[in-house]
Amino acid sequence: MPSPRSSTLQLNENGRLRHFLTIEGLRRELLLQILDTAESFASLPGRPVKKVPLLRGRIITNLFFENSTRTRTTFELAEKLLSADVINFNIDVSATAKGETLLDTLRNIEAMHSDMFVVRHGQSGAAHFIAEHATQRVSVINAGDGRHAHPTQAMLDMFTIRKHKGDFTPLRIAIVGDVLHSRVARSQILALNTLGVSEVRIVGPRTLLPTEARSLGVHVFNELAEGVKDVDVVIMLRLQNERMNGALLPNEHEYFQLYGLTDERLENAKPDAIVLHPGPINRGIEMDSAVADGPRSVILQQVSYGIAVRMAVMSMAMQSQADLEGEA
Ligand code: NCD
Repeated sequence: MPSPRSSTLQLNENGRLRHFLTIEGLRRELLLQILDTAESFASLPGRPVKKVPLLRGRIITNLFFENSTRTRTTFELAEKLLSADVINFNIDVSATAKGETLLDTLRNIEAMHSDMFVVRHGQSGAAHFIAEHATQRVSVINAGDGRHAHPTQAMLDMFTIRKHKGDFTPLRIAIVGDVLHSRVARSQILALNTLGVSEVRIVGPRTLLPTEARSLGVHVFNELAEGVKDVDVVIMLRLQNERMNGALLPNEHEYFQLYGLTDERLENAKPDAIVLHPGPINRGIEMDSAVADGPRSVILQQVSYGIAVRMAVMSMAMQSQADLEGEA
């Protein structure tokens, strides 16, 4: 797991974002700056000329040690819209698959003069490890590490919520499902509490909720109907079967009977409640198709907003690198 130093590792001495590894330790103003910067990029994909030259001449390497579709594609698109040169390091056929250590992989990619690494890894703490060992001139962006953190996903969720709800402070938000194995939920809880929402709830069977829930600053519910009662936002999570050791659930059919989100159950939430899901969704397991494709679902908007939010984080991190170069 990341070292205690890691939350300060990501800021430079002026408090600017150097790496983006976790939401932990970041101030509300910085999270709002990410959202405001993303806002300035959000209209670009709809314009005839979609690119901005902010990262022209910069090289970004995408290092995905774990499968991903949405996250990887939207990062790549964001990098291209910022005019960076992009390298996709192909892990499956790379030396890592032949036993090279993470540190050796890192040294080799550094030798290719990358300015930024976007890292996804199955091991919690991998992005921190890379940031700690990378040379000064490189920024590291965490695109999901084990069960630990997925900060850009959390920020695109915050962006989506702000688009629909405006002010965070009055909001009551339920995160439903497999919170225990979810790096997304962990990052969302930190972001929502930092942004000062009125209440964060986690909802699910006892076997899929973390035992330290209360210290995370959330209210715990084991019944779905009760958990979504009067909420403004419902965030659904995928059952992370690949991270479960042994049976934590009777079966998926029964899970849907108890925790699957249907239109009927959504009636308990506020009439204007919105439904989010980081994807990929499992229809008929954590949610009904009628909800996923229904008027309250903002799931596809989350994907689009992910591009602007990733542009914001990468341009902010690169700006603090530029500050460093200016001083040198
Ligand atoms: C999430 C992830 O990989 O952590 N998905 C994503 O980034 N879009 C959540 C998940 O896999 O369920």
